[in-house]
Amino acid sequence: MKIIHLSDLHLVAPGHQVAGRDPAQSLARALTLVRRDHADAAFCLLTGDLADAGEEAAYAELTRQLADLPMPCYVMPGNHDERAHLRKAFPDLPLSTEGFIQQALPTPAGLFLLLDTLNAGRPGGWYDDARALWLRQQLTGAGEQAIFLAMHHPPFAVGIPSMDRYALRDTAHFDAALKGYEARVRHIFIGHLHRPIGGSWRGMSFSGVSSPNHQVALDMNSCPESGDVPGSLGHPAFGVILIDETRVVVHHHFLDHDDAQFVL
Ligand SMILES: [Fe+2]
Repeated sequence: MKIIHLSDLHLVAPGHQVAGRDPAQSLARALTLVRRDHADAAFCLLTGDLADAGEEAAYAELTRQLADLPMPCYVMPGNHDERAHLRKAFPDLPLSTEGFIQQALPTPAGLFLLLDTLNAGRPGGWYDDARALWLRQQLTGAGEQAIFLAMHHPPFAVGIPSMDRYALRDTAHFDAALKGYEARVRHIFIGHLHRPIGGSWRGMSFSGVSSPNHQVALDMNSCPESGDVPGSLGHPAFGVILIDETRVVVHHHFLDHDDAQFVL
């Protein structure tokens, strides 16, 4: 099974820019490559920060651009998103009684649990009792299915101080929900970091992808107290993930993919 992992689109109202680029154009460039090279993907996962400031116009642009993709797309909120506006644009999105946008997606490769880590008005993520209860229920009800998690905020630090301060905060509820199921989790897809990144956490493999528009710089000496996040414009991309019974392979499809190719 092939899936597409897109994250941190940071769409704005038409005609506006983020970091000197038009995020709508950046997304269009990515989706052109998805349609051209990956039309066989089973679905697209969008791990949050779909809008830069939660504007309705940004989500309207997103639904417009996703409309002619040949595969379904599944979205989850990030800290820059506004749940009400997101759900207005995607009226079929499940909404829990507590107001969270989270869903369990059965696939041939296993059960994908798409989490809501948004703490409205704050850059860092949050996972409270209600969300943890839902996650635990999904895990206990999953039977023998392999589990894949997708979430905007990473539940661990990655060594970039300016971003680590905005990771999932107070992971006690998240950890408790996951306890005992770590060996069943085949992979965790994260957003938020705007970087091609991967590794493992507590034995679970994870990956994150660049934004199609702008990145977080690899600055391991940044001062977290300043609140500033060093940015960069290099290597916009999306992820192409191949999954079978023995492998989860993560490719980063850079948007400059077609530049200066040559025969080795
Ligand atoms: Fe972001």
